[in-house]
Amino acid sequence: MSDRIHTLSGYIHEYQRSVHQPEQFWSRIADSFHWKKRWDKTVEWNFEEPKIEWFKGAKLNITENILEKNLFTLGDKPAIIWEPNEPGDENQIITYRQLYEKVNQFSNAMKAKGVKKGDRVIIYMPMVPEAAIAMLACARIGAVHSVVFAGFSSNALADRINDCQAKMVLTSDGNFRGAKSIPVKAVVDEALEKTKTIENVIVFKRTGEEVEMKSGRDIWWQDAIKGQSTECPAETMDAEDMLFILYTSGSTGKPKGVVHTCGGYMVYTKYSFENVFQYDQGDVYWCTADVGWITGHSYIVYGPLLAGATTIMFEGIPTYPDAGRFWDVVDKYKVNQFYTAPTAIRALQAHGTDPVDSRDLSSLKVIGSVGEPINEEAWHWYHSHVGKGKCPVVDTWWQTETGGIMISPLAGITPTKPSYATLPLPGIQPVIVDADGNELKANSVEGNLCMKFPWPGMLRTTYGDHERCKNTYFATYKNMYFTGDGVKRDEDGYYRILGRVDDVINVSGHRMGTAEVENAINEHPKVIESAVVGYPHEVKGQGIYAYVICDLENRTEENLINEISETVRNIIGAIAKPDKIQVVSGLPKTRSGKIMRRILRKIAEGDTSNLGDTSTLLNPEIVDEIKAGAK
Ligand code: WTA
Repeated sequence: MSDRIHTLSGYIHEYQRSVHQPEQFWSRIADSFHWKKRWDKTVEWNFEEPKIEWFKGAKLNITENILEKNLFTLGDKPAIIWEPNEPGDENQIITYRQLYEKVNQFSNAMKAKGVKKGDRVIIYMPMVPEAAIAMLACARIGAVHSVVFAGFSSNALADRINDCQAKMVLTSDGNFRGAKSIPVKAVVDEALEKTKTIENVIVFKRTGEEVEMKSGRDIWWQDAIKGQSTECPAETMDAEDMLFILYTSGSTGKPKGVVHTCGGYMVYTKYSFENVFQYDQGDVYWCTADVGWITGHSYIVYGPLLAGATTIMFEGIPTYPDAGRFWDVVDKYKVNQFYTAPTAIRALQAHGTDPVDSRDLSSLKVIGSVGEPINEEAWHWYHSHVGKGKCPVVDTWWQTETGGIMISPLAGITPTKPSYATLPLPGIQPVIVDADGNELKANSVEGNLCMKFPWPGMLRTTYGDHERCKNTYFATYKNMYFTGDGVKRDEDGYYRILGRVDDVINVSGHRMGTAEVENAINEHPKVIESAVVGYPHEVKGQGIYAYVICDLENRTEENLINEISETVRNIIGAIAKPDKIQVVSGLPKTRSGKIMRRILRKIAEGDTSNLGDTSTLLNPEIVDEIKAGAK
């Protein structure tokens, strides 16, 4: 039985049911999956502790719902199509049968190295099918994967390994990205100097570059699978056992490990995938994200594969060898559903319409957007030039913590409105609250976005620190999950996401904590203090603006700025490098010593006309200096 919604009235009906009888609703959806044992209770929850349990008492293995389930009817169907970085190089098409074999074989390889149920395994890999195979193999044997985006630095990688006390790293020799080849294994080696828990590293050969293999610890992927059987029994997992940890940035401190569990995540990613994208058997679906982010987890790997879809994995970048690459890939595989980020749309928009108009995009039925607010101009460009005015744009709002898409049109069903994520999916109960936590019930209101009822795909905890989970998401407003986003609901009840209301910035769709970037900047020995804010950036959505107080000593300002940039790259990764660094002699502070970020934000935005009352500052004179030196 399919749980696909087909009409607007069908959506409204399902939505009402999901709110009035959530247990019956989700139980019915969950019934279409294969469980080793059925649940005793559909949901048990309180947002105080918080404690959230879905499909309580149920036993399952998510990979049986991908591999065994699809083996009989879809065995010869492509599960993963891999398009390499170099357009002329050979691609790979992996059928569901081959995926079954590869996942089982790699599961056995990990088991042979002593990985057991509950162990944490880090995946630090390029966009190759083996990354997805690695994730599924972990799930198969009950190991908890934590994928770390391969652009993160060795320091960032070491922090994550240490936080979750991982036992194994799965990686590659290198990574092809456009015209560049980036070392990967060398970064792992560096990280492992700062960690104690890793017993083995399995290295997939991709670029062929020379790497050091530490004897007794490192083994080639190709050797690890040699002689391993292609049958591996799936571990029996409790619905609430951990499936994976994914680190994400918050407004304070180090990134936190968001924990997702087996049963709920499975049900929610498949359900949301099928309904938002209106995937039909035989369609070819492509999400351009990296598996290092939640979008890659839920909508390259788990959601599509649970739905028996054909999912494309693309190794390259949108502008290599030229700005028509995405459209070449769409044409090559006759892609039906295409899902990307506003930052990519804006970057391609800058190259004009020739690269789009010169390719055949007639296969496209649905085009999606994720990761940051899509501005109206980009929305229209996407709709007219990529979707040719006929493909619905699904602007999908969600988060690492939500596990799956929360507010979004259902393609072709929900009437769209540029830059509106539109309406909640069935089962999702958004509320808008004012600063005091009062629910604003009317339409045409603006406030903070919360959820007042759990959904199966939501996070359960932050790894190793439940208090942090509680404080970050459940303490701001009583009995609600707080998203950190501001939102507007219009007269039709449609939601428009306004962006983060906390100190998280969104750079090219990547989440970054300003405190995290400040900490990295402060690692430079000559930096005394720094403050980081976001500012509007034409392509990236938001750029990183850093104000730093430093001791120049005998360097030029330019040299120091370059060194600071390098420091950030080393500590976090290239994605966190500030776009602008301004050297200042002081930061505007309140009498209690707090940095007045509001003023710094205004200056970074170039809007200095209305800085508000600065007379209460400890050092009001600094404002003029900063204004004068603004970049
Ligand atoms: C933002 C990515 C506006 C938002 C899936 C959220 C969006 C953060 C949208 C989560 C959208 C994501 N419109 N803003 N369609 N999608 N965001 O965890 O601020 O990397 O809180 O998850 O991205 O980012 P994350």
